[in-house]
Amino acid sequence: MPNIEEHSRISLARTGKDYAEIHEWIDKDPLTKVERHDITKIHEYGQMMLNRYGSEGLQEYLQHIHDDLLARFGHVKEDLEKSVQDTLAYFGVTARPSKALPSEYETLLADLELLRQAGVGPDDVIHCQRVCRKALEIASKINKPVNYDLIARGGLLHDLGKAKGRADDHGYVGAEIGRSMGIPSEILRIMETHVKAGLTPKEASEAGIPEKDYTPETLEEKIVVYADKLVDIIYSPDQVVSSETEAETRFTEILTAHPNLAKSKEAAQRQIRNHLEIQFMINSI
Ligand SMILES: [Fe+2]
Ligand SMILES: [Fe+2]
Repeated sequence: MPNIEEHSRISLARTGKDYAEIHEWIDKDPLTKVERHDITKIHEYGQMMLNRYGSEGLQEYLQHIHDDLLARFGHVKEDLEKSVQDTLAYFGVTARPSKALPSEYETLLADLELLRQAGVGPDDVIHCQRVCRKALEIASKINKPVNYDLIARGGLLHDLGKAKGRADDHGYVGAEIGRSMGIPSEILRIMETHVKAGLTPKEASEAGIPEKDYTPETLEEKIVVYADKLVDIIYSPDQVVSSETEAETRFTEILTAHPNLAKSKEAAQRQIRNHLEIQFMINSI
C-alpha cells in the first residue's frame, strides 16, 4: 500500500497540494491506523475533514482509502483475469477482439446482405427482418428448448425465394438458391415449409414444384410459420389490428374473416392449428 509520502505525492499530482496532514492523520499512529481506515467511520471522519480542509480535503481523505484498497486488491483482480485468460487459452478458447461483433450478429448481417444481393426487394427485406424479430419473440415465450440461431436465420431468410418466385413456389425456390449458397439444411427446410403453413403434395404439384409434403415439423419451422403470419396480420394494409397482441388474441377470427390473409381455406386451417399449438405451448407452465 502507498506510504504517507506516496499518498502525499498522489494528492499533489491531483490537487496541487500534498495534504500531508490528512495522510499522516490516517496512517502515522499504528494504534489508530486501522480505525481511521474503517469505512463505517467515513461519515464521521468525512465531516471532520470537510470542516477542517474543505471539500477538496474531504475528497483526498476518501481517495486515500480508495487508493489503499486499490493497492491491496488491484493485483488480485489482475491475477484473476490473467488466470482466467490462461485457463481459457489452455482449452483453446481465445477472447475475441473487443471491437468485433459477436459471431451471431455477423451471421445475421451477412444474411441480410445475402437477401439484398440475391435480389429480394426492399419491402420484402423489411418483412423478413420483422419476421426474424417476431419469431425470436415467440420463441422466448415458449417454455421449451429452441434453437435461437436457427429461428433468427430462418426468420430472416424465409422469403429468400422472393428474389425469383412470388407465388406458392417461393419457399422451394428460396431453398434452391440457399442450397447453392451453402445455407444449412435446417434453414432450407424453414424456407420450404413456411408457405401456406406447409403445402400438401397436391398443392405443391399445382405450384409446379416437386410433389412432396412440405408440412412444418420442427418447433423452429412452426415458429417461423406463425411469426410470418402474425407479421402479415400486424402490417396488413387493411389495418385489421391496432396492436401486436391483438394479432395473437384474434388470430382465428382474423384468418377466418380475411381470405386475403389466409390465402386459401386449407392454408387458414393449417395456420389456425399451428397458432393453437404454439399458444398452448406459450400458456403451458
Ligand atoms: Fe413467404
Ligand atoms: Fe414471409
